[in-house]
Amino acid sequence: MRTGLTDRRTDPGRLPSEPLLTASGLRRSFGRTSALVDASLSLHPGEIVAVMGPSGSGKSTLLHCLAGLVRPDEGRIDYAGTDLTQASDTELSTLRRTEFGFLFQFGQLVPELTCVENVALPLRLGGTPRRRAERTALRWLERLDVADVARKSPGTCSGGQNQRVAAARALVTSPRVVFADEPTGALDSLNGERVIRMLTDTARENGAAVVLVTHEPRVAAYADREVVVRDGRTRDLGGLG
Ligand SMILES: Nc1ncnc2c1ncn2[C@@H]1O[C@H](COP(=O)(O)OP(=O)(O)OP(=O)(O)O)[C@@H](O)[C@H]1O
Ligand SMILES: [Mg+2]
Repeated sequence: MRTGLTDRRTDPGRLPSEPLLTASGLRRSFGRTSALVDASLSLHPGEIVAVMGPSGSGKSTLLHCLAGLVRPDEGRIDYAGTDLTQASDTELSTLRRTEFGFLFQFGQLVPELTCVENVALPLRLGGTPRRRAERTALRWLERLDVADVARKSPGTCSGGQNQRVAAARALVTSPRVVFADEPTGALDSLNGERVIRMLTDTARENGAAVVLVTHEPRVAAYADREVVVRDGRTRDLGGLG
C-alpha cells in the first residue's frame, strides 16, 4: 500500500500537526464481551504514546485494531490517508509487513533460527537476499547491544537479551509505527528498563512512532503522551512532561 508520507524523521520537540494514525469511535465485541466501547487515539509521526489501564480494559484489542490485526465492529482508523477498516486483508498484511513493527510480551522469536536470523526474517519475507538482510540485522543487534548473541539460538539467551533481539526485529524494516504490547511484562525491573530505554531511543533516532501498551508507570514515563483505557473507553491524559 502506498502512502503519501516520505519524511520519517521528526524533531521530537515539534511534532508535525498532521497525525499519522487517527482512530475514532472504535467498538469491538467478542461474543457478549464488549472489549472496546468507544475508543479513540491519534499518533503523530515519531510520537511515543503509552496506553495504560487495568487488565481486561481493552488495551490489547485497541492495539490490534490500530495495527490492522483485528477489525473493529464500528469506527474509523485512518492511517496516512487510508481507512484501515475498509482495507482488504491483502492491503492490511502488506501494511503490517512494510510499515509496522511488532513487539510482544514474550518476544515470540522463532526457536529454530539464530537471533540474527530472527531479526533478518522480516527483511527476508520482503524479498531481501539473506546476506544483506543479516548484515542489516546485525547492525540492529549492535544498536540494541546484543550483537554478542547473534549466532546463538533464542533458547540459550536470557529473557532480557531475547526481548532486545525482538526489539531489533521490530525495528529492522525501519517501520513508521512500532506496536508494543507489554514488552517488559516478563522481565525484572532492571532488564525491563533497559529494553524500554533502548526501544524508545532507537525508535526516536529512526523517527518511528510507538504505541506502547504497559501496566507500569515507570515504562510509560518513556512515552511522550499517555492514553488510559477503562472499560473499553479511552481517555487522553496528554503529555507526561
Ligand atoms: N479473542 C477474544 N475472544 C474473546 N474475548 C476476548 C478476546 N480478546 C479479548 N477479549 C476480551 O475483551 C476484553 C478486553 O481484552 P484485552 O485483551 O483487550 O484487555 P487488556 O487491557 O489487554 O488486558 P491485559 O492487561 O490483561 O492484557 C476482556 O474481557 C477479554 O476477555
Ligand atoms: Mg493485553
